[in-house]
Amino acid sequence: MKRSAAILGVMGILGFMTACGPEAPLGPPPPVPAEYADKHMPAGWWTDPKIVEEGKAIFEGRADSDVNCSSCHGRDGKPKKKGARDFRVGERMKLYSDSFWFWRISEGVPNTKMKSWKSKLTEEQRWKVMTYEHTFSHGLQPAPHDDYVKPAQVETK
Ligand code: HEC
Repeated sequence: MKRSAAILGVMGILGFMTACGPEAPLGPPPPVPAEYADKHMPAGWWTDPKIVEEGKAIFEGRADSDVNCSSCHGRDGKPKKKGARDFRVGERMKLYSDSFWFWRISEGVPNTKMKSWKSKLTEEQRWKVMTYEHTFSHGLQPAPHDDYVKPAQVETK
């Protein structure tokens, strides 16, 4: 018990230092590895209600009970697990390119509870779940990701 509390504490500090905590300042995300840099959302999918609905079923664990993003990220996008990203924050989500986002879902985030999903989800399923996550910062409506801001344009504070 004590040990896990200590580990949580350390993770919390690390999370803060690496700009991962909810209150941490927003900075440009790390660069996308070459093998993911050319991966892009299939045309029309951000705004396709059927695709978004399929993404929602994956996110909520209804498509495959082994995959339940909402257990940490929350059904309405309000994080349930400490450190999980708040996908309702548009200011954060607009810093995520489709390739960055896809890379993170595919490979996970090292040393966090966010694991790699590429063995559980096909590429198509990963894109679908992204379209649903994206609705959290757009009033739960399918929306184009045209508010994306390239890191070079982002002011770092
Ligand atoms: C066991 C808890 C857990 C589950 C289940 C989970 N995540 Fe995460 N996720 C996290 C945490 C914690 C983070 C924050 C990691 C960090 O500090 O950057 C995160 C971060 C993310 C990020 C942002 C990555 C970044 O670098 O900012 C995305 C996108 C994401 N998760 C998508 C998903 C999707 C899609 C699923 C389901 C297929 C999922 N997550 C399932 C805990 C989880």
